[in-house]
Amino acid sequence: TTKKMMTTRESPRGDRQPQAQFQVHPRWKYESPSSTLRKPMVIGDFSLDETRQICHDRRNLHYITVDWKHSKKVKYDLNVSYDKTIKKNIQETKQEKLDRLLDWILNNTSKFHTEQSTGQPLQCLSTDFVCFRGLLTELLCTPYETRDGWIICATRFRDTVYLCAYETPEKQAHRETETDMQKKMCSWGYKFEQYMIDGSDVTEGVNENEEYCCVVRSRLESHSLVYGAEVDGADPSLYKTPHRDLSAFIELKTSKEVTSERDQNNMNRYKLKKWWSQSYLVGIPNVVCGLRDMEGIVHTLKMFKVDDMPQLAKNHWRPHVMMNFMNKFLEFVKKNVQVDDPETVYKFEKEPNGGNITCTYLGKDSEWAFLPKWYYEKIMK
Ligand code: A3P
Ligand code: MG
Ligand code: MG
Repeated sequence: TTKKMMTTRESPRGDRQPQAQFQVHPRWKYESPSSTLRKPMVIGDFSLDETRQICHDRRNLHYITVDWKHSKKVKYDLNVSYDKTIKKNIQETKQEKLDRLLDWILNNTSKFHTEQSTGQPLQCLSTDFVCFRGLLTELLCTPYETRDGWIICATRFRDTVYLCAYETPEKQAHRETETDMQKKMCSWGYKFEQYMIDGSDVTEGVNENEEYCCVVRSRLESHSLVYGAEVDGADPSLYKTPHRDLSAFIELKTSKEVTSERDQNNMNRYKLKKWWSQSYLVGIPNVVCGLRDMEGIVHTLKMFKVDDMPQLAKNHWRPHVMMNFMNKFLEFVKKNVQVDDPETVYKFEKEPNGGNITCTYLGKDSEWAFLPKWYYEKIMK
């Protein structure tokens, strides 16, 4: 493969040609037996403040008391103080790439030392992959995604493959043409979080930049993984500090209340698939959903056990297909990302509308490079 890579031809426009292809379909290729994800263990955490600076503390870890079982009637108006909302600038946060996670790694190298290597310069991170959880969620959903494509760039450095998601032109165009109503609906999700957080004042505007993130270690078959994940909060009656897993945590979601078969289908087919992937990847056991009307009023809170979701949606998506797909795709990445160099990039692209995945070697000095100098010049010193 190394030889093939070096002879990658360039088209007249200077674009590189894909060096390899990976078939997503037919989906039956990803039938049993299931690849297993080892229980994700927390190795650290950090917060992002209102200006998205990293803080090596838990200032944005929130508590969410759930003193009811299956559901609860409420009246939460998600439009309250909408004019005071400080929106997250997606354009800017996309530019962060892996920076916050890399910053955390750089400040926590002791977490990557073995007993023998303590005190010596770090030789490697002893993990096959580093990325954000959102990228893995997107991978898990890929076998069932018929419309959206994705772009994932990869760089191998000291035997760890770093993965970074980029916005596709289609998604960018979609984001840039969002109506005011769509923008408002996006803020409802954050406002719901504020209503659910213990001790918060909902007359205050939400600052959508603030986050609390956990860094977890896990393994999918032969692939060891370290990933960062933004998490919504923990039930204080279950939470013990320091937490080693996310079993006390709750994922918050909003969804349109189910009033038709179409709504039910949308919920089971699309929403539960995303909620399950996102939560399962970090070992969060429960999702609390705020069921809202079209005016943004939540009337009901409903508890979903993450483990019950596949059964509710069994006609639509199946976890073993998603896990097997991710396992095979990571294998494909490992095989193709050969050059070990912090400035060398490989681009993996899933075409929209049920297309396949291609891998393109971009080499050095690519506009897609994402490992910053401040990271790779310091981390192994
Ligand atoms: P909902 O979850 O109720 O949709 P998360 O649930 O991942 O913690 O995200 C919290 C909220 O951020 C979401 O609420 C949604 O409003 C917003 N959000 C998350 N991802 C988004 C995306 N890709 N595009 C637009 N809004 C998003
Ligand atoms: Mg969240
Ligand atoms: Mg949430």
